Formats: sequence, C-alpha cells, structure tokens
Amino acid sequence: MGTKLLILSASATLLFSVLLLPPSDTAWWPLRQSHEPDLLVWNGTIYTSDSSLPFAEAMTVRGGRILGVGNYSSLKDFVGSGTRELNLYGKVVLPGFIDSHVHFIYGGLQMSRVDLSETTSVDGFVAKVKDAVKDKREGDWLLGGGWNNDLWGGDLPVASWIDEVTRQNPVWLSRKDGHMGLANSLALRIAGITNRSEDPVGGTVVKNNGGDPTGLLIDAAMKFLLPFIPEVSLHERREAFRRASGYALKKGVTTVIDVGRFFPGASVDSIWEDLSDVYQWADSSEEMLIRVCLFFPMQTWSRLANLVRERGRSISQWIHLGGVKAFADGSLGSNSALFYQPYVDEPHNYGLQVVDFGTLLNMTLPSDKSGLQVAIHAIGDKANDGVLEMFNTVGNQNGMRDRRFRIEHAQHLAAGSAARFGQLRVIASVQPEHLLDDAASAEKKIGIDRSHKGSYLFQSLLSSGAQLAFGSDWPFGDINPLGGITAATKRIPPGWKHAWIPSERVSLENALKAYTISAAYASFLEGDLGSLSPGKLADFVVLSARSWEEFAEAVSSSSILATYVGGLQAFPQQPPPSEQAQS
Ligand SMILES: *[C@@H]1O[C@H](CO)[C@@H](O)[C@H](O)[C@H]1NC(C)=O
Ligand SMILES: *[C@@H]1O[C@H](CO)[C@@H](O)[C@H](O)[C@H]1NC(C)=O
Ligand SMILES: *[C@@H]1O[C@H](CO)[C@@H](O)[C@H](O)[C@H]1NC(C)=O
Ligand SMILES: *[C@@H]1O[C@H](CO)[C@@H](O)[C@H](O)[C@H]1NC(C)=O
Repeated sequence: MGTKLLILSASATLLFSVLLLPPSDTAWWPLRQSHEPDLLVWNGTIYTSDSSLPFAEAMTVRGGRILGVGNYSSLKDFVGSGTRELNLYGKVVLPGFIDSHVHFIYGGLQMSRVDLSETTSVDGFVAKVKDAVKDKREGDWLLGGGWNNDLWGGDLPVASWIDEVTRQNPVWLSRKDGHMGLANSLALRIAGITNRSEDPVGGTVVKNNGGDPTGLLIDAAMKFLLPFIPEVSLHERREAFRRASGYALKKGVTTVIDVGRFFPGASVDSIWEDLSDVYQWADSSEEMLIRVCLFFPMQTWSRLANLVRERGRSISQWIHLGGVKAFADGSLGSNSALFYQPYVDEPHNYGLQVVDFGTLLNMTLPSDKSGLQVAIHAIGDKANDGVLEMFNTVGNQNGMRDRRFRIEHAQHLAAGSAARFGQLRVIASVQPEHLLDDAASAEKKIGIDRSHKGSYLFQSLLSSGAQLAFGSDWPFGDINPLGGITAATKRIPPGWKHAWIPSERVSLENALKAYTISAAYASFLEGDLGSLSPGKLADFVVLSARSWEEFAEAVSSSSILATYVGGLQAFPQQPPPSEQAQS
C-alpha cells in the first residue's frame, strides 16, 4: 500500500516536471537525472582509507553508495536540484569505524544492569550493589558487573562482601574481562555449588582455605551457575539491540563484528537466536541502523556452512555471516590466559587451556574445509603458539586458499610469534584500549621482562606483514574507536607519564586502517566497506576537528558530530520524516 502510493506520486512528479520543462531540455534531462547524486559532502578533509586517493575534499553519494570522491570542482557538475549538500566547513570525515570484536546484544543488556566499572573501593562495591537491589522484588536476580579488582588494590571480591545486603536476591556480577564473576551465597545455593563442587575442564570454582566456595567462578565454571539465571525475554533482547546500536553509532561505529554472548562453557545457541529473533527481525521491520557481521560457536559449524550455502555470506546489506569462533584459553585479568611460564602472583598457575588443541584441530579442519572463516580466542603466549601451529596444520592439510584465519586478542606473544602471524597470514584481531588496563597488571602478573618483550606487539605484527583489525571487546572494553586509536598510537595508560613499550606504537594512518579497511578485510567485507571509494557503501563519520592537523595532533579531543550509514544520518538520530514534515 505505502509503496504503491510512493510509486504513484513519483511518476506524477516525473510527468509534471517533464511537462514543465522547455522542449529543448527534454532530451538531456532524464539522462542528467540518472546521474544525479542524493548527497554531496564537501568543503572539508575527507580521509578515505583508500591508498589510491587517501585524501579528498568532496564526495558524492547515490542510493546509499559512494558515487565519486575527489575535489569539489570535479564533482560539482553532477549535482542537481535533488542533491542534498553537507557543507563540512573544514571539518574532517573518516570512513565509518568497524569494531572487529563486540558482544553486541550482551553489551546492550549490560547497559541496563548494575555497572561497577567505576568502582574503586570495596565499600563502593557494596554500596552500589545495595543500591541496585532496592528496586528488585524478592527472588529477582541482580545482574551486571564490569568490576576491576585492580582498581582497589587487587583483592578479589567474595560473596560475604555482599551477602548481608542481598539476602533476598541471587546475584551474578561478572568481572570486566568477562572471564570470571561473583555469585552471592544465595546464587551459589540455588545453583547447588558447594564445597564438593569440582573444577570443570577449563574452569575453576574458587575456594577459600576452609574449602568453601568464595563465590568466584572462573571461565568454564560459570556453566554451573548461568543456566539458573532466567532467560532474557525477546523484548529485552530487542531493546538491548536498540540501545547497543544507538550507543555504537554515537561513537562512530557503523559495522560491528558480533562474536555473540558466548564464553567458555556457555550455551552455543544464543547467537543463533539473536540472528533470527533480533537481527533478521530488525532487518525485516526496517529497524537496522548499523551493520553486523556474526561469528558463531565453532561447535555449530555445519549449521553455519549450510546457511552460507543457502543464503551466501551476506543475508542483506545489514547482516553478514562472518565465520566460526572458539576459545583456546581464558584471560590475563582472571589468571586464566595460558602461558609457558607461570603467573608471578600465582607460581603454580600457568593458566587454563579451555579446549585441547586436538579437539580444536578436529573442529577447525572441517569448518575450514567447508569454506568458513575461523577465529580463535588466544591471549597467553602458549595459547597463541598452539593456535598458530594448529592453523598451519589446517592450511597444510586443506590446501591453499584465501581463508584469513583470525586470532582474537593475540595479547601476549613468545619470541618469534609476531613474525609467524605474518608468515602464516593470520589476522590479529586486537583491542588497543585493553592495553591501558593491562600495562600495570601484565607487569605484575607475568613480570616486567616477559610483558615488555611480548605484550600487545602491534607494530611488530604490522612489520611482520600481518593485518591488524582493531576492536573493543565491548562490554569488556568501551566502544570507542577514537580512544582505541589514541591507545594504539600513544600507549600511555591513565596516570602514566610515559608510553608502555613505546616501540610498539603504531602510526595514526595504520591505526585508522586497523579500524576501517583492514577490519573490513579481516571479515571479508572489503568489497563493500572499510574505505570511502566509489561503489562502496556510504558509511562515514563527521568529526568535530576543523582540520586534519587538529585531528592528528589530539585524536581523543575530537568528538563524533554525526554518523552516516548508507548515506543517511544515523546519529544524531533525526525524527522520522512524517514528524519533520509536521514541524
Ligand atoms: C580536481 O581534480 C581533477 C581530477 O582529479 C584534476 O584534474 C584537477 O586538477 C583538480 N583540481 C584542483 C583544483 O585540485
Ligand atoms: C568552507 O569552509 C570554510 C571553513 O573552513 C568557511 O570559511 C567557508 O566559508 C566555507 N565555504 C563555503 C562556500 O561555505
Ligand atoms: C562441606 O560442607 C558441609 C556443610 O557445611 C560440611 O558438613 C562438610 O564437612 C564440608 N566438607 C568438607 C570436605 O569440607
Ligand atoms: C581427532 O580426530 C581423530 C580422527 O577422527 C581422532 O582419532 C582423535 O581422537 C580426535 N582427537 C580429539 C582430541 O578429539
């Protein structure tokens, strides 16, 4: 009905215009009309991430795609009466950022839960929980987290801190890295976790000297508790998606690589449910404002291979099927990243191997053979080497092809391993803002020498010929590409006066690429995304910086003024056209 009306009114306008035009013009008018852009962006500095023309002063867009990029004089001739103009008044435009690693729906859910990320003391922790539980009915779960014990001296939280203020409500609060969480005693009781609970493979039920569980569950041990938390409703997940989209767009992100709600030991179905109930629902109700590319648990590889065979890698211009993901180890913050040498603060602990490499190989071989892209989480040096070796084996067995293996995080590398990324053409999908927290914590946990030789080796990875793809790991880091670029180019943690491992700083251009064209490449999206090149989708951001020099000098002082997706402004959100017409 609506479409029909639109067509009718469009042809009426066409008829009307043609009739009004002088006869001599009728010959060229339709021709000119067909080339006319919808949008002209001009009078500023456009950084393209396209090495054939890195900078331009103007760009035209038609039907959601980039038509031309160049100087104003070369593009102005095509502009017609239907072309909207975006005069930049000197400001800087960048390609829309691609965040290569987020837990999108989970992040949106966490936005509405108790947030302990700013908590710097035990008293503050307890007060925040006490305050949050006030709104809950008896028996409701209190969920949230984001806590970082390094902010109050390092002591890990225990259930007894909060039991007093949460007698009526079970509680689960995840650490900021997501690899451990705190349950209160009521939650432990509900889940049946007692002094007899044993550690599962790839996880730890932390116990005190008396042998009782403290409330902390690390990695795979979370699977003892999480099934007791009521499922979030469909409505909550869709709301979470809307919140997450609005937040990401505000930060200049136009595409997210969603690696799902899963973590070691969790249900493998959640991202499949998000695909159908949230993303495909949003797409069919025309609610998609941000592009997503999904990675699925590797155990479900054959289901994904079938879907890709049926639908291709792009279900629409909004939803892309990325590949499969698995875990090799845990995280540094939870002392569960797998190292060759033990943790300095826990001399018997080498970290956790979440899945043995034989099992990983057995899943990666058929996934890869079916044409799927494979991404594996590896943080410790031994986990990274194990995955690199496994990738090498798979490459040898399955033969040459453009497969773009990814290692997610690649945080701590042994001598020579950065070079292996280049030799094996493995993509390092890394999160620069994590280094701001990890600088002090890595020096404490693995010692100054090991951390200085091996942590966050961005420049070494680039020099080896490896591709870097930047991301945030949101909500385990903030979605914040300008902050990520600052972290990667400066490497100065808050409160520090000097850079952490200054030789591993990367140039601004390389940091921008890792958030745009290289990130697109890392998910096989570079045909449509990642640079402002003719033919690609017109996703871009307008910064507050009034010149390139101003931007380059202080990246983090710039803010995102507007975010465009497919040539349309998605942030700040504009009222729908009907309301605009009325006002
Ligand atoms: C504008 O671009 C055109 C085509 O790339 C080039 O020939 C021309 O010299 C440029 N003009 C200016 C003023 O830079
Ligand atoms: C282009 O932007 C500059 C600011 O950089 C402004 O002074 C100038 O008036 C603008 N030109 C036009 C034609 O709007
Ligand atoms: C485990 O806890 C129960 C109940 O508190 C207690 O009776 C038992 O002795 C404990 N067992 C061990 C091995 O500590
Ligand atoms: C991997 O697969 C091979 C061949 O099917 C089998 O012999 C081996 O036990 C498997 N290894 C693991 C760790 O599952």
